[in-house]
Amino acid sequence: MKREGKDVISLSAGEPDFPTPRNIKDEAIKAIENDFTHYTPESGITELKEAIAEKFEKEWGIKYNVNEVIISNGAKHVIFNALFALCDEGDEVLVITPAWVSYIEQIKLAGGKPVIVETKEDNDFIPDPKEVERKISPKTKAIILNSPHNPTGAVYPKDVLIKIAETATSKGVFIISDEIYDKLSYDEECVPLVHLIPEAKENILIVNGASKAYAMTGWRMGWGLGPANLIKAMGIIQGHMTSNPCSISQKAALEAVRGPQDEVTEMAREFKERRELICSLLEKAPYMTFRKPKGAFYLFPNITKALGKSFKGEVIEDDITLARKLLEEKLVAIVPGKAFLAPGYIRISYAASRKDIEEASKRIIEFLEELV
Ligand SMILES: Cc1ncc(COP(=O)(O)O)c(C=O)c1O
Repeated sequence: MKREGKDVISLSAGEPDFPTPRNIKDEAIKAIENDFTHYTPESGITELKEAIAEKFEKEWGIKYNVNEVIISNGAKHVIFNALFALCDEGDEVLVITPAWVSYIEQIKLAGGKPVIVETKEDNDFIPDPKEVERKISPKTKAIILNSPHNPTGAVYPKDVLIKIAETATSKGVFIISDEIYDKLSYDEECVPLVHLIPEAKENILIVNGASKAYAMTGWRMGWGLGPANLIKAMGIIQGHMTSNPCSISQKAALEAVRGPQDEVTEMAREFKERRELICSLLEKAPYMTFRKPKGAFYLFPNITKALGKSFKGEVIEDDITLARKLLEEKLVAIVPGKAFLAPGYIRISYAASRKDIEEASKRIIEFLEELV
């Protein structure tokens, strides 16, 4: 529709709308000029692994050796490698829903069976550790945790994370902790899981990367910190699948990790302000309720009150119809909750300019007001 010249506003993006910081881009250019354009070690360059481990130790007091770090093509690829390394055919992996779109598909690709642990809006989408325990079976191999959370914006309380980690560890269930939004936690500092429960270090893979914190989604730079035997297996899988992640991106990521961090702080501050803006604007929307997100850059409204109503004669049967109608009629793109195993909800990204947030919110309210 955009290509047809229509004034579509997209609040569907899962990526920062800021440019990658100048100093990072410069290092990439330097890498090209210096002909750093060939294969690197398959699991990433030692210098970058060291930089990631050093930063982690400085910030969180937990030491990882170089053989406990892997660099992959985005956090997504880290999770993929881990699931392929961990899962045998029929192994179960617990996924907390609503959930980011790729977990379920990746588990299935790895031959595993996703087992859902539901969370409820009434409980701020925080998982109940007892429910996690109930879902663990002799076949459970791993659990994927994600905090700050996509799509709900939940940030799991420390005591909940510790409880889940204790339960999983005591039952031999490995934890994949997806912390890709860790720099975007607005009300309290987001702490890596391994810092909360260092005694479980050998049972945890910390997943992170450059995409969200440094506005580097296109560079495909993710990393994992975990036990050496798992990292080794992940490296072998990666070696056969993609070989090394992009050499130039690795030099850029090195600058991201080692260089000044002011732009990370500045982007997080701006996202926090946009959170306030979108919450205050959409508070007035009819047929829509939401929890104020604590992290990431998504609002996850419940739109069940709009279902069964009609827009220009078409019944809004579900979140998919609502998303389609909103795009067709008001030119605002959002993501239906069904994509996250959460029908009855929609995900609105506030990784967009304030001007777009204001205009899109106006259109969303108009759309909902016109329902009969
Ligand atoms: C929860 C979550 N994990 C992982 C990723 C993947 O990040 P990357 O771009 O580093 O692969 C995303 C991207 O949207 C995400 O939302």
